[in-house]
Amino acid sequence: MFPIHRNRRLRTTDAMRALVRETVLTPNDFMFPMFIAEGSNVEVPIPSMPGIYRRSVDLTVKEVKELWNLGVKAVNIYVKVDDKLKDNTGKEAWNPNGLMQQAIKAIKDAVPGMVVMPDVALDPYSIYGHDGIVENGEILNDATVDALTRMSVSHADAGADFVAPSDMMDGRVLAIRKALEESGHHNVGIMSYSAKYASSFYGPFRDALDSAPGFGDKKTYQMDYANRIEAIKEALHDVEEGADIVMVKPGIAYLDIVREVKNAVNVPVSVYHVSGEYAMIKAAAERGWLDHDKIMIEQLHCIKRAGADIISTYFAKEAAILLNK
Ligand code: PBG
Repeated sequence: MFPIHRNRRLRTTDAMRALVRETVLTPNDFMFPMFIAEGSNVEVPIPSMPGIYRRSVDLTVKEVKELWNLGVKAVNIYVKVDDKLKDNTGKEAWNPNGLMQQAIKAIKDAVPGMVVMPDVALDPYSIYGHDGIVENGEILNDATVDALTRMSVSHADAGADFVAPSDMMDGRVLAIRKALEESGHHNVGIMSYSAKYASSFYGPFRDALDSAPGFGDKKTYQMDYANRIEAIKEALHDVEEGADIVMVKPGIAYLDIVREVKNAVNVPVSVYHVSGEYAMIKAAAERGWLDHDKIMIEQLHCIKRAGADIISTYFAKEAAILLNK
């Protein structure tokens, strides 16, 4: 008999394809990363990220309401810190009235259901633009972890549902978990950026927050993109230390890692579809070289297929609008 298999039978119509589709993408899969600025009624476009803005807390809240109504149920927040408040201790990071803490409170007041996950790392607060405290050109691990625990507790005090350490210091998940328990924040979770690579895809994000490293690079703490096994080790350590969700970052060029981490852990896996990935699609679409909407949905779908339970993406709003049609 020829042919033995007619696999195309399952692809004959839209209905047939829908019936056998293995993964479905919905707005509930997304988290939206938001950049916060000081002031009120402030909305500054990020040139390398068309469609993305740095907004003051009032306008951020407006955007969060829209996201919620579209079915996006989580936001990641990042702040642009005034140069005057930057130092080498990061102490502004746990100022109870700091910009991050104000943003968390305002979002939770306005949309209590929204899952708010502030970023935990010192780079926006550091005069050196590094994720940790610097001494003689070195990024100190344990002193930084201490700062991160204070920062996390202050986010929890402000009402954060989760904290999301993106710094890649060793031992921070355990230390943060311990500090959250000791301060009574038993239900505040940790989404750990577990396999975070030292990547050039973060360029536009650093433009948005003016947080590029002032010297050197981040290769002594973020991972080497040549490595795979190390990602599994990082993820397993974080789960052991108490991470509720582990993240792989960036997304599209790292889908092999996403699948391996997904197979190795028993917690949800999130993937950060990062700023540079967003910028590439926007740039190609602006030139008419790629179909924006189709590429956006395809990439997000592929991230989910690879094993992402949650996708952090600057496309969250646009994709949600399209998926809701
Ligand atoms: C900082 C942080 C970065 C990103 C998220 N948190 C930049 C960096 O590590 O330099 C990048 C996200 C993106 O590119 O969208 N700790």
